[in-house]
Amino acid sequence: MRGNPFVEDAVGGKLYDRTLVRRLLHYVKPHRKLIFLAMFFMIVTAGVELLIPYITKQGIDNYLAKLYQVYTAPAEVNLGLRETCGDSADFIPLDSDTTLLVRKAALDRMDRAGRNRMEEEGELSRQTYYLFPADRYDGETGMVMNGHWLVPENELSRVPLSVILDVRGGDIAGIRNLALLLGVLIVISLAAGYGHVMALVIAGQRSMYDVRVELFRHIQELSLRFYSKNPIGRLVTRVTNDIEALNEMFSAVLVNLVKDVLLIFGTAVILFILNVRLALVSLAVTPIFVVVTIFFRVKARGAYREVRRFLAKLNARLAEDLSGIKIVQAFRQEKRRREEYRGTNISYFGANMKQLVVFGIFRPLIEVTASLGIALVLVYGGGNVLTGALTIGSLVAFISYVRQMFRPLSDISEKYNIMQSAMAASERIFAIMDTEPDIVDPSAAVRTEIAGGIEFDDVNFSYEEGNRVLRDVSFSVDPGKSVALVGPTGAGKTSIISLLCRFYDVDSGSIRLDGTDIRQLPVRSLRESISIVLQDAFIFSRSIEDNIRLGLDLTREQVRKAADMVQATPFIERLPQGFDTVMAERGATLSTGQKQLICFARALAHDPRILILDEATSNVDPATEQLIQRAIEVLMRNRTSILVAHRLSTIQNADQILVIDEGRILERGSHQDLLAKRGIYYNLYLLQYARNNHA
Ligand SMILES: Nc1ncnc2c1ncn2[C@@H]1O[C@H](COP(=O)(O)OP(=O)(O)OP(=O)(O)O)[C@@H](O)[C@H]1O
Ligand SMILES: [Mg+2]
Repeated sequence: MRGNPFVEDAVGGKLYDRTLVRRLLHYVKPHRKLIFLAMFFMIVTAGVELLIPYITKQGIDNYLAKLYQVYTAPAEVNLGLRETCGDSADFIPLDSDTTLLVRKAALDRMDRAGRNRMEEEGELSRQTYYLFPADRYDGETGMVMNGHWLVPENELSRVPLSVILDVRGGDIAGIRNLALLLGVLIVISLAAGYGHVMALVIAGQRSMYDVRVELFRHIQELSLRFYSKNPIGRLVTRVTNDIEALNEMFSAVLVNLVKDVLLIFGTAVILFILNVRLALVSLAVTPIFVVVTIFFRVKARGAYREVRRFLAKLNARLAEDLSGIKIVQAFRQEKRRREEYRGTNISYFGANMKQLVVFGIFRPLIEVTASLGIALVLVYGGGNVLTGALTIGSLVAFISYVRQMFRPLSDISEKYNIMQSAMAASERIFAIMDTEPDIVDPSAAVRTEIAGGIEFDDVNFSYEEGNRVLRDVSFSVDPGKSVALVGPTGAGKTSIISLLCRFYDVDSGSIRLDGTDIRQLPVRSLRESISIVLQDAFIFSRSIEDNIRLGLDLTREQVRKAADMVQATPFIERLPQGFDTVMAERGATLSTGQKQLICFARALAHDPRILILDEATSNVDPATEQLIQRAIEVLMRNRTSILVAHRLSTIQNADQILVIDEGRILERGSHQDLLAKRGIYYNLYLLQYARNNHA
């Protein structure tokens, strides 16, 4: 993973990555029943959508365009025709055996060449006729043949409307039935569509819920080393935004993707079944589609990366400026920061505009191409209708199908965008999930009662390779005894403590607790036996009581007693709701000393075997410090304790004092021993003693 957050969010721009998708599917799998349900509903809706133009065609050809041609041929030839065309309803015998009225729709199903030949030889009339019963004949147009009134197609307007309505009652009823069928189908399709979307979205939400839980658990397990490399803001983005991107992929793309693919292919198949030539004509625009789409892909990828990059930059800048608002205001940097922000904002705006242009060109281009396809179908198909090679119903159905086939392609641009961010998001999510925690439980951990004997044996440690922070550190503390660490800033005192808590593992040497290497102990029981008060007191945004209790099963009295012992009760009781006062984020409304007192109470309430105080009293006033000091002394009895303090007065009573500088133990012994040595400790003591006496 690269370190720069600006670069890191600039994604690869992959649209589909098989490994990533396979890993995502792992989370979807538990909800596969829902997915199958969705697929079922989807097939129903797709089926209905494919059926509708066909029903329209039936309506037009069977009821609206009821055209006949007259066929005259010897009886045996006549019989042959009937057999090839099948359906007897398509033939109406006239006065003799030799003449037939043949339904134009039936002729359309025949092979073209044969029909042309029949027309040329005069067996088949070129004229097409509408058919009415002879008793309605009004003499205006057409002719009567054997009880039928034949009206040429182009003279239909001369037949009175009442006659048409009356005679075509059956057709009207037929249309009505078809309309009813269409209505029912549309209702079914709506219901199935609802089921389809709901089932998929629910499956998606459940999967994303699982991903979120797992990601959070994994992030929690990661070691401090990981946290010092990954800014918190970025991790928050992972758990929220990136999972949201996946979610969007589910609800916006996957919901329709399979259906779209099914529709495109289903439609193509139907087109070819309806009419091969026309199908080829409608597909003639496909190369244009391909070229436009490839061009779009290249352009959109670049634009998308640009947008992501500037957005990440914008967010990073905002987060930093807001968390450092105090310094910004104190040093009157508002104007400068604002200008910097504006600069990034302009770049972001520009990148967005570029992306808009790409999409703005792409969408209409696709739509124009689709229209071109339809126009081709109209020109070619229309010609065929005129020559009688194609029924009008087929043409109408064809146009509907072609439009249906192109529709999913035109909003491909939006889907493209969503897919791209989802792939990038899942890549980042899995990168975190693949990060192994440095600190892991031993395979066969023994859980023992911990007495509290600590031993550091030749410990060497570095945060970053080549930059050694602790060198050959060896010391031991018996259970119930205390050790104090003194030394200048950056000496390595806090590092020693972090190693004992196993926030990091040693490079070489070992740390033992009651004789067992801490790497052999379950991390949980190791940390349970330690209470720690750190330099930077951390307060959660909950009530004071919860902050002290921190998940332990403590009564109010126990919490209060702990607070009493560290002198925290007086100030807590002055708060509006006392122990129930809910803290601001990170305890922003408390002073640093107050925060430390609460952390102190927290450490005491947990009644640990080992107590660690890292500069725990550095931020309280001398009077309070003295009071706490007494509490600490009581508390340290029967507990192993490690104290870190710059003020030597607070550690004089420690059983052992270690003087540390640059990661080495330079002096060790009791207060008196070290004074007698007249070394570093002695000088430090003189320095502080002199200062205190001056004040
Ligand atoms: N997370 C970290 N990553 C890299 N280096 C670190 C990290 N934490 C501390 N260091 C480095 O390790 C060295 C020892 O730091 P440590 O925090 O142990 O000092 P300290 O003795 O506790 O100082 P202080 O008295 O100021 O608290 C310092 O040089 C510091 O720069
Ligand atoms: Mg420190």
